[in-house]
Order: sequence, then C-alpha cells, then structure tokens
Amino acid sequence: MKLILDLDTGIDDALALAYALALPDVELIGVTAVFGNVTRERSVENNRNLLALLGAAGVPVASGAAHAWAAESYQPGEFKYRIHGGNGIGNVALPASTAPVCGTPAAEFIVEAARRFGGGLAVVATGPLTNLADAIRLDRAAMASVGAISIMGGALTVPGNRTPFAEANICDDPEAAKYVFESGLPVTMVGLDVTMQTKILEKDIARWRAIDTPAAAALVAMAEYYYKNESEDGTLGGAIHDPLALEAAVNPAAFSMLPVNLTVVTEGPGRGRTVGDMERLCDAEKSARVAVGVGAAAFVEKFCGAIADLLARG
Ligand code: RIB
Ligand code: CA
Repeated sequence: MKLILDLDTGIDDALALAYALALPDVELIGVTAVFGNVTRERSVENNRNLLALLGAAGVPVASGAAHAWAAESYQPGEFKYRIHGGNGIGNVALPASTAPVCGTPAAEFIVEAARRFGGGLAVVATGPLTNLADAIRLDRAAMASVGAISIMGGALTVPGNRTPFAEANICDDPEAAKYVFESGLPVTMVGLDVTMQTKILEKDIARWRAIDTPAAAALVAMAEYYYKNESEDGTLGGAIHDPLALEAAVNPAAFSMLPVNLTVVTEGPGRGRTVGDMERLCDAEKSARVAVGVGAAAFVEKFCGAIADLLARG
C-alpha cells in the first residue's frame, strides 16, 4: 500500500511517521505538513529532520496549510507546548536535514497521488483536516478513488480533550473538518473514543532504550517527554493517538467501527464537536466509520515491537 501521512508534527505524529517506516507492506510516498501542534513551518522541518534521522530522507515533504480556513494566522498555544515541547518533538534537537522541501503544495501533492494510485493509496491525516479538505475541494473525484482515508480526530462517545466537547485536531479547524465529513467520502474516524485506550509508558519503550543509535535515543527522549506530559492531570501515560489512525488504515479488522454520517458543530460552546449529521441521519448509506473499540493491548505491543525492529535495523 502506498501511503501519505498528513502531519502536524507533534510527538505522536513523529511516532506515526516511524511506525509507517516500520510497517511491512507500506510504502511511505510522501509526508504533507500542516499547522497544529506546531506552526506549519516547524511541521515541515520536523518531518524532514525525522525522515533523515530514520534513514528516509528521500521521502518528499510537502508544505500545506499554515492556518485554519476561518483564520488568517496561527500560533500554537500553551496546551500544545505542554504536550509536545517548544519544538513539537519534546525539545529534542535533531540534525538538520539537507533534503529539499517538495515544490508541490500539500493539497496538490495528495491529489496527484490520488490520481496516480487511486485504490492503492491510503491517506492518513493526524492534524487539523485543512490539507485534506483542500485536496477534496481541488479534486473530489480523485479523492473518492483513494483506497483508505483515515483521520485522527474527534470524540463521539467520550468528552473532548480541548474543550468538554471537542478534540484538538477538529477544534483547530472545525470548518475544514465539517467539509471533509460532509463531502460524503468514506472516512475512518479514529478519535479519542479509541486513542485514549492505547497509552504508552516506560515499560513499553524499555526495548527502544536498549538500542544504541542516535535514532533510538531521539525517539526514547520524545516518547519519555510525551508520556510524562500528555495528560492534563499529571497522570503518566501518553495516548498513542496518531499511530492508531495509521493502524486503522492498514489493519481495520483490529477495530469495532460504527457507520455514521458525521458533521462538526461550528457555532457556540460545542464548536469543534463531532456529531451525527441530522440531515443525513436516516440515509441508508453512511460515509464515515467511527472507531469505537480497539484491541488496545495487542496494538501497543505491535506498535512498540515494530518501532524496536525499525530502530534495531539501524
Ligand atoms: O487530540 C490528539 C491529536 O492532537 C493528536 O493528533 C495530536 O498530535 C494533536 O495533533
Ligand atoms: Ca497530530
């Protein structure tokens, strides 16, 4: 399967990137960068540096949206710095990649890949859905041919993590997320309903620590920062949000899915909340599948083992 990751990198985005490189049968053909955990520029830089660190500097990184559809600029707030550090990757300083930034803007990059690979392509978006919405707006037919679109975002059966109702990625661009869900394209939503069940702790990364390479040291430091800081109440354990959205694209059988036509609340205190669309509630055809159950322990084991194998390869 060819894969594009759309990332607002972010520690768990970085872990999703490593997971993509670790998975057999997945060919990462590009990374598109979006604002979110960090600025768009920082996301581009983090992606390029991480790819170089992991021996994949040749994977193109395309630059995408710098802010939400309804905004004119963006700066990450305290909430993001607490979870991901000042540079998005736990304040870990990576050597600067010398690979050039891809000349094609993110949305065009995604659409070109959709036209070329169709059902052989998966797009996994783990930040605000702005790039994905832009790609659908650019060429809906091409995006409808994509084999799998999986997003990390939303909260259907549990409270939000940004507001009592809303998850952070959706909250960062509710209008774009609404556009994606209402486009009618088949989208798998991997939200807090399941990602809060998959947490990483020291015991899980112990085997990464045993590997003596710069890449292993960097990922250990990022994961450690994350599991100590992700939770607002100081409880240890970092939710493996973004890698789980990738898992849903490559291994949907590991999830219980609820078919539902989704939309996003864009007004009032519920702004950013993912809910069933009353206009399409009775339609026989449901465009979204919401992950509501996951084999959490098996996933954490698979994820940590795959990253350990990648790091051990050098
Ligand atoms: O709510 C969790 C999501 O917000 C994750 O994608 C994390 O990286 C941040 O973007
Ligand atoms: Ca993310």
